[in-house]
Amino acid sequence: MCGIVGYVGTQQASPILVEGLTRLEHRGYDSAGLAVLGSTGVKVAKRAGRVRDLADGLPKRFAGKVGIGHTRWATHGPANDVNAHPHTDAKGLVAIVHNGIIDNAAALRQRLADEGADLVSDTDSEVLAHLVGRSGADTLEGKVSDALSAVEGTYGLAVLHADFPDRLVVARNGSPLLVGVGDREMYVASDLAAIVRHTTTVAHLDDGEIATLTATGFTTYRLDLSRTARDATTLDIDPAAYEAGDHESFMHKEMLEQPAAAVRVLRGRLDERFGTAHLGGLDMDARETRAIRRVKILGCGSAYYVGQMGASLVEELARIPADAEAASEFRYRNPIIEPDTLYVAVSQSGETIDTLLAVQEIRRKGGRVIGLVNVVGSAIARECDGGIYLHAGPEVAVASTKALTNMFLGFALLALQLGRVRDLSIADGRRLIAGLQRLPEQIEEVLAQEEALAALAGRLAEAESLFFVGRVRGFPVAREGAQKFKEISYRHAEAYQTSELKHGPLALISPDVPTVAIVPEDELTDRNVGALHEIAARRGPLVVVTHEGVDLGDVEAERVVVPRNERELDPILMTIPLQLLAYHAALRLGHDIDKPRNLAKSVTVE
Ligand code: G6P
Repeated sequence: MCGIVGYVGTQQASPILVEGLTRLEHRGYDSAGLAVLGSTGVKVAKRAGRVRDLADGLPKRFAGKVGIGHTRWATHGPANDVNAHPHTDAKGLVAIVHNGIIDNAAALRQRLADEGADLVSDTDSEVLAHLVGRSGADTLEGKVSDALSAVEGTYGLAVLHADFPDRLVVARNGSPLLVGVGDREMYVASDLAAIVRHTTTVAHLDDGEIATLTATGFTTYRLDLSRTARDATTLDIDPAAYEAGDHESFMHKEMLEQPAAAVRVLRGRLDERFGTAHLGGLDMDARETRAIRRVKILGCGSAYYVGQMGASLVEELARIPADAEAASEFRYRNPIIEPDTLYVAVSQSGETIDTLLAVQEIRRKGGRVIGLVNVVGSAIARECDGGIYLHAGPEVAVASTKALTNMFLGFALLALQLGRVRDLSIADGRRLIAGLQRLPEQIEEVLAQEEALAALAGRLAEAESLFFVGRVRGFPVAREGAQKFKEISYRHAEAYQTSELKHGPLALISPDVPTVAIVPEDELTDRNVGALHEIAARRGPLVVVTHEGVDLGDVEAERVVVPRNERELDPILMTIPLQLLAYHAALRLGHDIDKPRNLAKSVTVE
C-alpha cells in the first residue's frame, strides 16, 4: 500500500522518481507526487490521479539531484491534490513522503495547531513534516529522530531538507524500506521494483532504523542515533522479472508463468524414496511435528481462500484437524492459543498488516507460527518461527495468481510432511508426489484453453451478478473464483456451498444470473449434478468446471474441462480457469486489470 522512492546522486532526480513510481503504482494509485531539492530550494508537484497524470503535468523547471516520490492509497482523507504526498513544513524547507499510519496523529495535530502550525491536509503524515521542521536539532538526522520520538505508529519515511542539500534521511518502522547502492548515487524504495533497473545492490532496513543517504554512501542508526552495522548485498535478480514484456498486463504474464513457478516451489523438496517432502525452513524435527494436534491457517483475501484449500489438504493427508480463518478477524476475538497447534500465516507480500498482527499476537502468547510467504525477508517472513518460501518470483498484479498457486503447493508439501510422520502411507506419499510432479504440465494444459475461456468470459461479463458454487474441496475454489471476478471485473460474484443453494440463494437464480459450478469427479459428483438440475430448472445459465467424462445428465451447461490428477490436488487445477474467466471478463469490460479500483497489492493498514 503506498509506494516510496527516493534518489540522491549526480543525475536529475525527477525522471528516475517518475519511473520508480510507475513501477510502484500497484501498491496504491489514487494520487502521486514528487519533491526535488534544487538551487532554488524544495519544489513539490503532486496531484490526485495516476503517475502518468503527474508526469504529464510536471513543471518545466523541476531540476534537482535529490528527490523523493510517493504513490498513495488513501487512508486519512480523500484522494485529492492536497492530501497527496510529499508534505511540507510551514517554511517549505522540509518535504516528506510516508507509508504507514501515525496512530497519535490527532493529538499531534492538535499540539502543532496550538503551537501555531498551519496544517493544510487531512493526512496523518503531514504532522511528520511539521515535526521535522520545528525540531531544534542541528543535523537532519537529529531532526528526524526528534520527530519520530513523538510519533506512535508505523512508518516508512523519506525526508529532504533545503538546509541539508546533500542528503536524504529515511526511517523504517513496520513498513518496508530498502536502500539501493549505485555508482555515486543512492536510492531508497519501499519495494525493490522501483529501483531494480538501476541497482540490485541493496540493504534492507530494520524496524527502528534511520539511514542517511548521500551520493557517496549510506550510514545507518538506531532512533537514538547510535550507529548500526548494515552492509548492502547484491541480489541475484533478473530485472526482466519486473517487466510485463509483451503481455498486455502483469496479470496475464503472471498467469502464464504458473507452470514455471510451480516447478520452482517443488524443486528440491520432494523425496520420492520416502514418499515425503523436505521443508528445511520449518525447523521442526519429527518429534515436534508429531506433537502437532491442530493446524490453524491465517491469511487475507486470496491467501485466506487458499488457506481453506490448505486446511483440506492437511486434514485429508495428515488427518490433523485444520481450519483457515481471516487474519483480519482472528486477533479481535482474543483467540485461544494452544501449545500443540501449528499456526500458519499465508501471504504473498509478507506485509499484510492484518496477517502480521495476527502472527505477533500468536507469538506474544507463546504459539508457534510458520509462514508461507513469497517475498523473501518480508516482515511476516521475519516474524515467523520458520517457513516455506514460495519462489513464485515478483508478483505485480493486484489479483494474485502465481503466488496463490504456489501457496497451494506449499500447503501440499506441508501436508505431505505432516502426513508422513503420522498415518499417511509411503504409497500414498508417492502417489501425491507423482501428482505434484504432473501439475506444472497440467496447469499448462488449462492455460492453453485461454481462447475458449475468453469467449465464455465475454458472456459472463454481461451479467450484473453471478454465483460461484462448490462443495467441500470445491468450495474454497468457488470463493477464490468469486474473489477474482469481483476484484477485477467489478461484477457482483457470490460464492456459495452448492449444498446450501436450496436453503436460500436459489430464489435469485434466473436467466440473468449465471452460476459457475465446480464439479470434480469425486465422491460428491452425483450430489453436485443434482444441484445443477435445480439451477437449470430455474433457467439459470451454467458454466461447469469439471473433468472429462463427468455425466451431467440432460443439464445444459458450458463445460470447462481440466485434467485429472489426484483428488486432493483438484482444487488448484480448477482454480486456474477461474483466473482466466475473471481476467477476460475484466478485459472485455475495459477495466485496468493490474490496478483494480479501490484496491492495492499490499494492504499495510488495518
Ligand atoms: C489485498 C489484495 C488481495 C490479496 C490480499 C492478501 O487485499 O487486494 O488480492 O489477496 O491483500 O495479500 P497477501 O500479500 O497477504 O497475500
